[in-house]
Amino acid sequence: MDRRGFLKWLIGGMGVVALAGIFYPIVRFLKPPAAVSGAIGQVANVGAVTTFPAGQLTLVTVNQRAAAVQNLNGKYTVYSLICTHLGCVVALEGDAFKCPCHGSKFSADGKVTHGPATLPLPTYHSQVQNGSLLVGPIDLTGAAYPDWYKGEFA
Ligand code: FES
Repeated sequence: MDRRGFLKWLIGGMGVVALAGIFYPIVRFLKPPAAVSGAIGQVANVGAVTTFPAGQLTLVTVNQRAAAVQNLNGKYTVYSLICTHLGCVVALEGDAFKCPCHGSKFSADGKVTHGPATLPLPTYHSQVQNGSLLVGPIDLTGAAYPDWYKGEFA
């Protein structure tokens, strides 16, 4: 290989590396997160009901996934905090939820109040037993959740 050929090869290689550096983050951003392992039907005890103050949202984990318990006069609802847009974990913001990734907002009952998310936060089946709140599995029947989102709980 002569000098000119080597320089062409070197510049071409650097161009490929530069393009990969540009497109890799874009592809990572657009590709939905991979499904995580875990049993969808597992029941988790998230704690004594006395630890969930009335009228408030309380952060918990259900099978290692972020969730929030809402206690409305002794009626407990457990929301998944996995954002329905691209799967980030939404945060509590006052008495509602906000996604730190792209700004979606959800009301205290999980409905979308600001996009880009279009689907509500789903809830887990739950019941009180012997003073403890048992949670699981997730209820994904309330909206047309895409397969990648269902995979988050598979
Ligand atoms: S992941 Fe995009 S708004 Fe939540």
